[in-house]
Amino acid sequence: MTLRSVIRGSGSALPARAVSNAELATMVDTTDEWIVERTGIRNRHIVGEGETTATLATEASRKALEAAGIEAASIDLIVLGTCSPDQTFPATATVVQQALGCRGGIAFDVAAVCSGFLYALATADALLRTGAAKRALVIGAETMSRLLDWEDRTTCVLFGDGAGAIVLEAVEVDANDPVAPGILATRLHADGAYNDLLHMDGGPSTTGTIGKLRMKGREVFRHAVVNLAAVLEEVLEETGYQSADIDWVVPHQANARILDATARKLGLPAEKVVVTVDRHANTSAASVPLAFDTAVRDGRIKPGDLVMFEAMGGGFTWGASLVRI
Ligand code: UT7
Repeated sequence: MTLRSVIRGSGSALPARAVSNAELATMVDTTDEWIVERTGIRNRHIVGEGETTATLATEASRKALEAAGIEAASIDLIVLGTCSPDQTFPATATVVQQALGCRGGIAFDVAAVCSGFLYALATADALLRTGAAKRALVIGAETMSRLLDWEDRTTCVLFGDGAGAIVLEAVEVDANDPVAPGILATRLHADGAYNDLLHMDGGPSTTGTIGKLRMKGREVFRHAVVNLAAVLEEVLEETGYQSADIDWVVPHQANARILDATARKLGLPAEKVVVTVDRHANTSAASVPLAFDTAVRDGRIKPGDLVMFEAMGGGFTWGASLVRI
């Protein structure tokens, strides 16, 4: 027997307000045609008054707990990936902990931008397998709309707000059983040499402001396809699976063209890739768990499926994780 981190349930949350490309075209010099053709995005959700990263994360977590049939009080670990926390400190994970009514466990945020959920998942998995905790909430939650320069058409049309969460539990499984559930392998990477290509132009210890998001999109695009294909191969090699064994790929939702190019490189049919970028745009750390929850709730992802999570973002950071549901 071996101790594995098993996904017990998932949940997600979106702000009430949906913003179409047509509405954006009334604010900046852009068109629905340009956005759809270059990105696949048709819609995004944007927070309004009273909605924050923590409120979205809390709603997603409540739904995940409900789906898992698990009481909030039994959660002893919360790891939250975000680059848009409610405050510089305390960690938004502690705000969520308080809102859920659980106390005394471990709670902290992870800053890995669009790879935030992958980094949070790997961290929670490691803590569960060492016995430091038993039941975790792993959350990706963002209010990217608060970080954008709404006069910069090259970035403001790309992002949206939202949250996704999973309940992860440490379970003894038979490692010889080929369909035993749990996280099978995760690979993470970072390369700070590319900080400049995707960054905030401010921060607490530099400008004393949060700054605005800046991105050299074309260069990020080029690196994303190469890095994602490489890390997916690494995880497959480590686990001994072939790409044909994968039931679903749940990628970071930055751009439909990146999803297509990565799938093509791996020889994966487009039907196996969960796509929500058209509805949610790029929600950074929230995008993978939001897409996962969408595909679980619409019945595509089922118990027993082999699912690959992958993401790439600012830093650069990138990673992939293979999970038996
Ligand atoms: O989540 C983290 C990872 N992030 C990503 O993976 C994002 C990766 N990058 C991308 O998704 C794409 O590079 C973008 C969608 C950001 C841009 O697409 P692109 O095909 O690389 O376009 P481009 O940046 O080369 O711009 C092409 C043209 C430019 O005009 P000129 O110089 O050719 O005259 C831009 O000024 O499109 C223009 N443009 C726009 N036009 C209308 C840029 N933004 C817009 C816009 N509306 N919103």
